[in-house]
Amino acid sequence: MIADRRYAYGDAAFAEQDLQAAFDLFEQTLERAPNWPPAHLALAKAALALGDEARARATLERVLALDPADHLGAALLLARIGGKPVADAMPAAYVAALFDDYAPRFDSHLVGQLAYRAPDLLVAALDRYLPGRHYAEVLDLGCGTGLMARALGSRAGRILGVDLSPRMLEQASATGLYAGLEAGDLVTFLGQQPVARSDLAIAADVFCYLPDLAPALAAARRCLAPSGILAFTVQTHPGEGVVVGEDCRMHHAPGLLRRLGVEAGFTLLAEEEAASRRDAGRPVPGALYLLAVS
Ligand SMILES: C[S@@+](CC[C@H](N)C(=O)[O-])C[C@H]1O[C@@H](n2cnc3c(N)ncnc32)[C@H](O)[C@@H]1O
Repeated sequence: MIADRRYAYGDAAFAEQDLQAAFDLFEQTLERAPNWPPAHLALAKAALALGDEARARATLERVLALDPADHLGAALLLARIGGKPVADAMPAAYVAALFDDYAPRFDSHLVGQLAYRAPDLLVAALDRYLPGRHYAEVLDLGCGTGLMARALGSRAGRILGVDLSPRMLEQASATGLYAGLEAGDLVTFLGQQPVARSDLAIAADVFCYLPDLAPALAAARRCLAPSGILAFTVQTHPGEGVVVGEDCRMHHAPGLLRRLGVEAGFTLLAEEEAASRRDAGRPVPGALYLLAVS
């Protein structure tokens, strides 16, 4: 009880930018509950905000020791300060927990408040580059609550969805738009699909949760029919390679995406700047890609 209260006060102090007070309160929380990962994570965030990277790093290592599956996303923060490779920074348990928690308010918050439009942008691009095309077999990768299926409408025939978050899938199921839904990682799911059968594989605002896109692109290529299309949005950054952004998502460099597309056996059909949503009132830098089987 006392630990809970200290933690709540710490949270409030952090929100008010009273960083030293927050740090002290999280330390006091840990005196009473030394093995509680959320308090260690909160302490690490306060240490980071105070500029104490060494303390933040040690505390994040402790979170990972207490919770090796990393439901809280400590590895992401570690990667941001160079304490872990970016490739290991997005554990499945974290993504599933994040979206299980977000699921009940996903549509209203994202679409209503953050002007989310990745599915609409992808559909508009498909219509522009491939007007009138119908996609009989569709794989919706990271389908979430089913907004992509809704946006595709009559352009799509049979849609299969996959997502790491069971709660998001419950909502996708309620739409009645999916012929099948699977809980799990999209690369594993793609590996289980028949070879060269699908007409469209689509990932709206999902690849920002995958540090290394090479396995996903190769696995999608394997499932796509000779005229198949892989369509996706990403968050981008002006540098090279992939980085963990301040928003704790993966930001990919356009040059990297073009190279990975070609290496996986695709031709670049479209590459456009596209902001999937707004953050703090500003469009989030991003791009959309349509890749055709080559
Ligand atoms: C921002 S939501 C977008 C959902 C949906 N595509 C849409 O446009 O509304 C990202 C979704 O991707 C899922 N996700 C992230 N990484 C994944 C992975 N490796 N395999 C399967 N699903 C994943 C998350 O669970 C989440 O539901």
